[in-house]
Amino acid sequence: MLYNIWGFVRQSAVRIHLAAAKTIYKISGGKLPKSLYCKRANPEKIPTDVRIISENDYSTTIAKVDENGNIKSDDFVIVSTTDFHFDVDHDINTKAVKNFVQHLKDIKPDLVVLTGDNILSKYQQIDAIQFAQMMEEIGIYWTAVFGNHETREDRGFYKWLLFKSFCDYEHCLCKFGPDDMFGYGNFTVNILGEGGKLLKTLFHFDSGRDILDRDKEKYGLPADFNGYDFLKKEQIDFYKNETAKLKKQYGSADSFMYMHIPLCEYSHAFKDDGNGRFVPTGECEILYGEQYESVGCSSFNSGMFDTILETGSTQAVFAGHDHVNDWAAIYKGVHLVYSLPGGYAVYNMGDKTGKPESEWVEGVTITTLHNDGSIELAPRYNRIYL
Ligand SMILES: [Fe+2]
Repeated sequence: MLYNIWGFVRQSAVRIHLAAAKTIYKISGGKLPKSLYCKRANPEKIPTDVRIISENDYSTTIAKVDENGNIKSDDFVIVSTTDFHFDVDHDINTKAVKNFVQHLKDIKPDLVVLTGDNILSKYQQIDAIQFAQMMEEIGIYWTAVFGNHETREDRGFYKWLLFKSFCDYEHCLCKFGPDDMFGYGNFTVNILGEGGKLLKTLFHFDSGRDILDRDKEKYGLPADFNGYDFLKKEQIDFYKNETAKLKKQYGSADSFMYMHIPLCEYSHAFKDDGNGRFVPTGECEILYGEQYESVGCSSFNSGMFDTILETGSTQAVFAGHDHVNDWAAIYKGVHLVYSLPGGYAVYNMGDKTGKPESEWVEGVTITTLHNDGSIELAPRYNRIYL
């Protein structure tokens, strides 16, 4: 209750601030404050056939429909991107959002998924609300998971408020998820295809930040065991139970999984050749892309990938976190994919590799779902707009 009142006050203050800035922009004859970087990207309405069919506390079911409301058999296109790291450097924010909006105008996707580190810190409500308002203006449905930069605990007021700042908007399909689960934002989006069959379920998970002392005890890890966080048992159970339910309801449970911190199995694609270059290990089929930094996964493998192999129904896992790895690969029959980074803050290809911008990997990842269940993945880089 207190969360809601205080949250309402904070969000209202941000909305008034943004409305005032937009008004000043209008009456000043186009002098746009730098902080309104989403406005600088010139967002415009993009028509969509996607409609919400049903929803509950942790899931939304959507489909592309024709003018009579019948579900269409068209391809369903998902754009994923990651690590915007919206921050006080508004020039960098502007560059990121301009490219992102241009991709959306050119691709006209059916859904957008952000795989975390969208906002640099949990206090930056203004960036969350500004981004959500821009997505309303564009009119494409979107989802997001949290990254390690948005969180310093599994639950807390500002983390809650940041997530609520997304959820409050009509085109955001984020859900807080079951109460008894780690973090905020463990939810699903079901995409229906022709005849109402399940085309794909998109599992979204909060992959946390650093391993908490509480979890070291719970998972039998030594007190000095540190590193990035991992998916918790209740999240794995949620995935198992939901998959079983979907199989019962639809006769199939084909799915994708979105999270910020990559699963440990991402480490099987490339290895350091001893000279600081990463080369394929031979354990995976590399579909495209390169690795320029070590996989920033947890040092503890809590078993999500093994559960994926057990259920046999997840075709692809999407992660963010490592800003300069742009590859997609198949490991043990499962696609492991990096969403291309949308942002340039904290570190980027230039900082990390010294390469010219014409070779940078920032951009978006396009996933096309065909009605026969097959999928296509393609990177689309910001460098095409240079
Ligand atoms: Fe990041």
